[in-house]
Order: sequence, then structure tokens, then C-alpha cells
Amino acid sequence: MFDETDRTAVADAVREILTTGALTLGPWTERFEQAFATEHGASHAVALASGTAALEVVLRTVDVRGRDVVVPAVTFYATAAAVVHAGGRPVLADVDPDTLALSPATVEAALTPDTAAVVLVHIGGLVTPEVDALRALCDRRGIPLIEDAAHAHGSTFGGRAAGTFGLAGAFSFYPTKVTTSGEGGMILTESPELRDEARIYRDQGKGAFTANHHVRHGASWRMSELNAAVGTVHLRRLKEFLETRRAVARRYDTALAGLDGLRTPVEPAGCRSNYYKYVVLLPAGVDRAAFKRACADDFGVRLSGEVYDLPLHRQPVFAEYRDAELPVSEDVCARQVCLPVHSDMTGDEADRVIEAVSAVHHRLAG
Ligand SMILES: Cc1ncc(COP(=O)(O)O)c(C=O)c1O
Repeated sequence: MFDETDRTAVADAVREILTTGALTLGPWTERFEQAFATEHGASHAVALASGTAALEVVLRTVDVRGRDVVVPAVTFYATAAAVVHAGGRPVLADVDPDTLALSPATVEAALTPDTAAVVLVHIGGLVTPEVDALRALCDRRGIPLIEDAAHAHGSTFGGRAAGTFGLAGAFSFYPTKVTTSGEGGMILTESPELRDEARIYRDQGKGAFTANHHVRHGASWRMSELNAAVGTVHLRRLKEFLETRRAVARRYDTALAGLDGLRTPVEPAGCRSNYYKYVVLLPAGVDRAAFKRACADDFGVRLSGEVYDLPLHRQPVFAEYRDAELPVSEDVCARQVCLPVHSDMTGDEADRVIEAVSAVHHRLAG
């Protein structure tokens, strides 16, 4: 959502960028980094071309080559792909059924003598209340906790923002995300060393912007100034977007609480989700495709994409993991639907969704 004011602000910024000719790694990138760091209470931010690049760069700074990296089976392909691109071996761990995130127990079960890092994913925008316990577990093992915070712009636990609980947090600004730069990613970290390394990696591994000596195997992972301007303008709306999204979630919570066997998302004490997704688990045995079809055909309500409908070990590209036993991941992926949440959604629109979901639930599960 870009309203007229934001479109004008972006157009003015683009005019300025084209006039100065500073098209990449210029003042807008710095502005975006500073604003994003401030918004999340982090010391350093590094903007990149995508969330996948942000993850890969963090993993490269850790150096996971030839080593194991724990990732949840419930996540987007890119979380595990970034490990592979950085030369590591993903080890899939199961998730907690309530938070859809890694827990200390599922991580313990996936650790090996050669674990180099753990990647925690804040599914749907919820930071697990076990995040400190996960950090403590990683600290005891002497391995970094990395956050894939692609879903979690502005989400908090105990007043602390997603992306600030481990060594580094990686965000995505893909257009579906709560704030976007068109395409893009961001690393947040407290470590000045990691910040400096990330800056080197994102610019072809060059020792300095104007130098032609390459000190790392980096790539073309820069964010353009045009994207940085879009991201900076959009980020100014984050608080307002969160308010709207949380109001929609509260409306869903209240209206859907009584539906038999249907589980609405719970914010554990201290957690504030950004409701990137409102993940509902359908009662066991309800046909998800039929549920979605009925909402669309009979009520004109299209349910958005799941997060995720298949765990990673069921994805064709990860066939070597297909025999892994990850029962919670399988169950929560098979039963979930995501109710629409938009940053400019009205109460009436939310009520239409409630009407559809309630009626279809009654028909298929009542
Ligand atoms: C959980 C998760 N990780 C990583 C990514 C990758 O981000 P990007 O598409 O910006 O590379 C995404 C989003 O697309 C995501 O949802």
C-alpha cells in the first residue's frame, strides 16, 4: 500500500537520485539502514538486494562451509537455500505446534557435533517467547543464533524487536512483506565486525567501494538507491500498518474463538506479532482445498498463501530429506490457512472474511 503522499515522496526521491546520478550505495541506502536500525533498536544495519542475500551473507560471515546449520522444516525455501549457497548443510528441525517456530527441544534433537549455526524463523511475524532460551542454548554450545526475520518487521518479544536476539537478523522487503522496497533485504546486528564484513560481501567482496581488490567471495548483492528510497518512504508507515493489522487480528480472534476445532493464533505473554500472516489451523480431517474453494466461490474471499503448505522435506528440491521424521511440521503445514490481513484493511472487509470462514467451517466441520 502506497498512498498518494508516499507515491509523491518516492517520485521526488527518484527525481533526486536520477539528477545526482548516485544510483547505488549512496545516501538513500544509508538513510534506509539508519531508519531500519533505529526502528528495531539495533546498532547496525546493512541493506542488500534481497532477504536471501541477507541470510547468505550472515552465514558467510559465520563461515558454515562444510558444516551443519539447523533450520526449521516449516519455512520458506530460501532459509535452507541460503545455507546451501553459503556452503553449509541444512539440518531440518521440527517446530513447536503453538508458535510454529524452533524450540530448545527441537533444536537439541537436531544438533550435531558439527553444528555451525541455528537459524530461527519468526513464522507469520510471531517471535517465540523461547527466543532467549534458544539464544542461551546456542551460547552454551558456542554457536551463533541467526534470525530469519523476513516475516517480522516490527514484531517484538518483551519489548525487544525481531532481528535483535541473536548474532544477526535478516529481513526481506519482497513486495508481500509488511514494508517493502520493491525488492531488498536488510541485516541487523550489534557487531561492527559483522557489519563491515557484510558491506564487503554485498559489493562483490571488494575491500572498499572504490577499490578493485577482492578480499571475499562476495557477489552483486547491493540494494539500488531507487529501492532504498521506496523502502525508506514505506518504513515511515510501519507503526500505522501494525496498528491496522493488529486491529484486524483482534477482530478475527474474537469472532472465531468459538469455532469448534479451529485454532486461531495466540500471542504468548510478552509477544507482539506484526500479523504478517494470521495463521489458522483447520480442524483435523477438514479438506483445506475444499475449504478455500468454498470461501472463494461462495463468498468471494480468497485466502492468501500458506506459511507453509509443505514442510521443506516435502519439497522436490530437498528430496534427500524426504524420510525425515518431522511430525509437527507435517501437521501444521497440512492444516493451516492464512486469513487475509492488509495494512489498509477495513473492519467491514475483516467481517466478510469472518462470515465466510464461519459459514464454511460450519458446513465442513460443524
Ligand atoms: C521466511 C523467509 N525467508 C527468506 C525469504 C527470502 O526473501 P527474499 O525473497 O527477499 O529473497 C522470504 C521471503 O520471500 C521468507 O519468507
